[in-house]
This record gives sequence, structure tokens and C-alpha cells, in this order.
Amino acid sequence: MPTIQNPSVERLRALPKAEVHAHLEGCFESTLLEQWAKQAGVAMPRPADRLFEFEGLADFLHFLDWACGLAATPQRLAELAYSYSQRLAEGGAGYADVIVNPTHWPAWHGRLPAMIDAIDAGLRAAEQDGLPPVGLCVSLLRTQSADAAAELVDALVALKHPRVVALSIDGNEAAAGRTGLRFAQAFRRAGAAGLRRTVHAGESSGPEGVRDAIELLGADRIDHGVRAIEDPELVALLVERQIPLGICPTSNLRLGVYPRIEDHPIERLRRAGVAVSLNTDDPVLLGASLVGEYALCARAFGWSDDDLRALARHSIGASFANADTKARLVQALSAW
Ligand code: ADE
Ligand code: ZN
Repeated sequence: MPTIQNPSVERLRALPKAEVHAHLEGCFESTLLEQWAKQAGVAMPRPADRLFEFEGLADFLHFLDWACGLAATPQRLAELAYSYSQRLAEGGAGYADVIVNPTHWPAWHGRLPAMIDAIDAGLRAAEQDGLPPVGLCVSLLRTQSADAAAELVDALVALKHPRVVALSIDGNEAAAGRTGLRFAQAFRRAGAAGLRRTVHAGESSGPEGVRDAIELLGADRIDHGVRAIEDPELVALLVERQIPLGICPTSNLRLGVYPRIEDHPIERLRRAGVAVSLNTDDPVLLGASLVGEYALCARAFGWSDDDLRALARHSIGASFANADTKARLVQALSAW
């Protein structure tokens, strides 16, 4: 059997790629949160050196409400968005779709246009400084109502903001129960209005959540989707329709979906022919970097250069980048 050299960090960084599953909510540095909390006279949920210790998804989502509550000015939002683009460039990505979920940001409730403008300002400044372009996926929370979902879609359709590429849904499916039908109409309307659709499923739900994402929500892409592995017919459907999965191994380990990287199903999904990509989910809060995700899996599963190239190709194809950006990245990939 040929021995496979682990690719160097520099080589993985140079691999042309996109990120398709990351949350703006997951990009706060602990020192910044500590500083903002002090300024606002808000108590920290636990000491700074343990701030990013989470007991699972529910605890993590609760923390997001606290952290995002501190980002009450347009400058803070813009800086956060800019810092995400910097992180993206550090990971050698040429494009990203980033998720923002307005429910986590109490200071912005009822002010969606201003919120999107503030994020857009940060992303525009980043692009002007030569950092990669980023599209915005505006997200529902699984525990919201059908009325709240309709309201968000109405607002997005009326706004037609060029930065917004997709409707997303995230949050805790285990807490919400099976909610595909509740959100079906909102996703249908978003699709008809020209928005793409990306759906968190198969992380806190089993394969039935992934199936609902496809059949009820018309998902163009699934965020996580890893528990599809438990249903061979569903895996076959993902392959047949080439519906991509935005997989985040470190997040799954940190939030307790799988105990060890060796147990993670990305390799089995990839070998079955599913269009898998690697992503950071909530990079700062969960301690993930894009290059780190590639290095972790390349090492654990012995991926060759061809495997890595195919994965990066999936990340570009799965993205909601425009055709020019995709073509440029695919071209660069062929020279890697
Ligand atoms: N929001 C931010 N990160 C998330 C995750 N991993 N799952 C569901 N919702 C999220
Ligand atoms: Zn996510």
C-alpha cells in the first residue's frame, strides 16, 4: 500500500476552496466579549478562561444569545464581519457563504435592514482590502413559528439586498421536534423569490431531518447532514441528486455528536459519493480553522492530493458564489 504523506499546513492553505457553513455568531474572540461585557456592566456567564466550554448544542445556542446581545452597534457588527473575511483569507478560501440568525441579536430585533447593512459594510470594506467575497445566508431558528418564518421571508423578499444569497435554518432540531412542514411554505416562497436554500439537519436530528430538508424545504445544500449515514437509502438519494453537505468535524466533536474523529462519518459519506465539504461552523467559539479541518481529516483518513482536490471542488460547487467566482476558483484548483 503506498504511504500517503500528510500535506503541510501551507499546502492545505494554498488549496483553492470555499467555506459554505460558518456562522457570524461563532466569530467572537473571548477577549472582545470580556471587554464588551465589562463596558456594558453585563455579567460573564463563567470565567474568561472557560468562556468557550459548552455542554452541548442547547447550551451553545444559549451562549450565542448572550454574546450577540453585546454587539449592539453597527460598528461592532461590521468589525465582526470584517474579521470573518480575514479568517477566511487566512484559511486560503476564495469565497464563503456566512450564516447570520437575527433571533440571536436582541439589539437588532425589528431592525433587519439596518442589521444587514451593518454586516454588508464590514464585508464590503473587507473586499475593498482584497479579502475574499462573502455571501450572506439569513437564518430562521428551528424553534420559531411558521408566522415568524413568513415574516422573515417577507422582509428578505421586500429588501432584495444584493448581499443576501440564501434563506437558512439552524438551531436545535432535538428541542423543536420534526418541523419540516412548519417551515415548508417559507422555504417555498424564498425559493420562488430567487433565494437559495440551506438547511441545518442531521446534526441534532437523525436522517429523518435530512430527508425533510430535501423533500419539504427544497434544500440546495444541507448544513451538517452527517447523520444521513444512518439511512443507506438517504445516502443514495444525496448521491443521486448531488445535494452537498457542509460538514464541520470539529464542531461535531466539540458539541458531542461523535466522540472521536475516527467515528465521524465524513469518510463513509465521501466514499459513497456524497458531495461533502469541510467547514468551521462557529470557528472562534469552537476552536476550528479551515486549514485545521482539512489537516484533521487528511491525517485521520489518509486523504491523497486527489481526495483533497475533489473535496475542495465540492466546496466551490456547493457555494452560492456567482459563476465568475466559481470559475476562477475551479481554474485555480486545477493548478494546485
Ligand atoms: N447555530 C450556530 N451553530 C449551530 C449549530 N452547530 N447547529 C445549529 N445551530 C447553530
Ligand atoms: Zn452550523
